[in-house]
Amino acid sequence: MSNIEIRNHPKFYNVFISGPKGKFKLYTRNLDKGNRIYGERLVNSKEIEYREWDPYRSKLAALLLENPITNFLSEDLNCLYLGASSGTTISHLSDIAYSGIIYGVEFAERSIRQLIQSTSRRNNIIPILEDVRYPQNYAKSIFSNIDLIYQDISQPNQAEIAIKNCNYYLKKDGILIFAIKSQSIDSIRKSEDVYAQEKKILEEAGYNIIESVNIHRYAANHIILIVKRGNT
Ligand SMILES: C[S@@+](CC[C@H](N)C(=O)[O-])C[C@H]1O[C@@H](n2cnc3c(N)ncnc32)[C@H](O)[C@@H]1O
Repeated sequence: MSNIEIRNHPKFYNVFISGPKGKFKLYTRNLDKGNRIYGERLVNSKEIEYREWDPYRSKLAALLLENPITNFLSEDLNCLYLGASSGTTISHLSDIAYSGIIYGVEFAERSIRQLIQSTSRRNNIIPILEDVRYPQNYAKSIFSNIDLIYQDISQPNQAEIAIKNCNYYLKKDGILIFAIKSQSIDSIRKSEDVYAQEKKILEEAGYNIIESVNIHRYAANHIILIVKRGNT
């Protein structure tokens, strides 16, 4: 395990960096010491173990490297994570929001099995085997107010799914982080047109788009929207 100089991220709570400005690497403090989730590098600094956070594997890391204005991370965040897969990004959120709860919904049995195996020592992740198109089906598994919904799924009607889940679970001043993959929605139309269409669907449902962040540098044909509930 390497020993390197690690410092606090200048803005994001419980996120850490190393290296020079503009070229830094991201880390989170490992809640489950000695264990990796996706082969990420573990490093030690002043006797604390960190996990390197790869922006090519995690769109949330890519978003943070693009330096959004909105600050949405805290230690006690309650988060509904749609499309949890086998645990790459959700495990970093678990490191960050160590006293919150992260509900991870995933419908692929193989992925959720892997998620359960690799995160069983993390008390703040609740894996839910369900289809995110039907938010009412997992209501019994969710027992906190949701501050943040993170959605990263490859489905043609991504905006409708986000809206359904936000209407059902997101608290009034809560935030939606919405990764849009244009290719999953329409592989022929120009990405920009697809993004505009998804934004329009959200706005017509009463949601305010605070930021639209292009993460093409790390994930082709993806943007991330940071969205707030209106007064609906
Ligand atoms: C791009 S991957 C997510 C990667 C993950 N966010 C990460 O960074 O670790 C998309 C995931 O969404 C899941 N998914 C797609 N449609 C879904 C649905 N309707 N309900 C639940 N999960 C879904 C897929 O099975 C897949 O695991």
